[in-house]
Amino acid sequence: MNAPLPTTDAVVDQRHPWLGLASFSESTRGFFYGREEEVAELARRVQRMLLTVLFGQSGLGKTSILRAGLVPRLRAEGYCPVYVRIDYGPDAPSPALQIKQAILRETAAAGTWSRAGVAGQDESLWEFFHHRDDVLHDADGRVLLPLLIFDQFEEIFTLAQGDDGGRRRAAAFLEDLAELVENRPSAALEARLEDDDSVVERFDFARNDYRVLITLREDYLAHLESLKAAMPSITQNRMRLAPMTGQQALAAVTGPGGRLVTEEVAAAIVRFVAGGAELAHAQVEPSLLSLICRELNDKRTAAGRDEISLDLLAGSHASILSDFYARVLLEQPEAVRSVIEDMLLTASGYRENVAEEGVLHALTAAGAAPDAHSVLALLVDRRLLRIEERLDVRRVELTHDVLCGVVLASRALRHEREERGIAERKLASQRERERATRKALLRARQITAGCVVLTVVSVGSAVFGYVK
Ligand SMILES: Nc1ncnc2c1ncn2[C@@H]1O[C@H](COP(=O)(O)OP(=O)(O)O)[C@@H](O)[C@H]1O
Ligand SMILES: [Mg+2]
Repeated sequence: MNAPLPTTDAVVDQRHPWLGLASFSESTRGFFYGREEEVAELARRVQRMLLTVLFGQSGLGKTSILRAGLVPRLRAEGYCPVYVRIDYGPDAPSPALQIKQAILRETAAAGTWSRAGVAGQDESLWEFFHHRDDVLHDADGRVLLPLLIFDQFEEIFTLAQGDDGGRRRAAAFLEDLAELVENRPSAALEARLEDDDSVVERFDFARNDYRVLITLREDYLAHLESLKAAMPSITQNRMRLAPMTGQQALAAVTGPGGRLVTEEVAAAIVRFVAGGAELAHAQVEPSLLSLICRELNDKRTAAGRDEISLDLLAGSHASILSDFYARVLLEQPEAVRSVIEDMLLTASGYRENVAEEGVLHALTAAGAAPDAHSVLALLVDRRLLRIEERLDVRRVELTHDVLCGVVLASRALRHEREERGIAERKLASQRERERATRKALLRARQITAGCVVLTVVSVGSAVFGYVK
């Protein structure tokens, strides 16, 4: 696992109401604002169909919407949400078993099954959810619908593909999941149906009182499409998460902020995060907004003030982003920074997107440790970079235009340093050459002088000889 940034495990309270780069959770939902419409739409979708897919770029707030918005809401409406994150490691139990264990753990906390214990160890997920007359009730006798939540579903296309074992597990899981979301029993069970009457007694084929929700990073949408043949429903009920509008972003600042921030300052913060756009046209990345608010609030605390003021914002535009940039790259070799700055920014300082393969190549050449894939994953995780899928090619870019300034400044500094280094080396070699020339000259002079002396001596001795 990647070590979290210092801001991710920060405390949240009335005086520190912004989370920085951490996702919201059920316990921090009191500070979650601005996504009411999305939560409502997602809840409607989940209620309507067996499978819902929520997709969007990294950092737009998928996890937060689930945990701080959807789950508390659906809990109150008779659902029993079960988060599942599958371990694809060689020693982990089969995905189906992991999922069933998670369901039993969660449902035991929420209520009781009317025929507890009827579930068999080797059952498929479909079988698990279709036992005849086995219904989940809460303490008041109200029926609860299990809702399986697979956040970061893209992991099945990344983590699970590392080795044969992982790939086998992923394939088995997808098969189980397909039966569940298409609500069709396995071929094996269908075959038993013919000659085994107990099957009809044990299972209620008409049941559809469970739900599945998948969230996915947008750059893996094409991967998800590849499952369409086995799982047609993945295309039927999906919702794309967009960046926040100006108004939503304003709510995300003033809502949790309370008296720490005025409307005017909040609007200025939003405009800044939106790269200068007016509120009506702003498109705001919540991750960046949250980071800026948290850092500004830290500066407010350090200055001993009660309110975040415009001068704090003006004075720290650049430093917030450059601190962030420096922190993300803290443990990376200098060459990784060069890869980012030289590849992902055009000569004039605009965001450039580059095929993932090229970036991985360059990171490998730069000595990224432990390997290029995990460094790229780390930089995406820390929201410096993101990956987008365009025409089936995965392309890497900086997460946001507002980062261009700091990246450009850092590149200019580095180039200046490099050029100074080159100039110094040139100067040194020139001096060395001069020294060598002087030495050669001196030597030539010495030789000449020697020759002159020799000539004089020999002429002298010739004259002497002649006189003699
Ligand atoms: N409504 C919101 N208000 C303020 N910050 C938000 C909001 N939604 C998300 N964030 C922030 O954005 C960042 C990304 O959120 P996260 O839910 O992890 O996104 P994703 O799962 O899509 O990558 C986090 O720092 C989180 O605190
Ligand atoms: Mg997430």
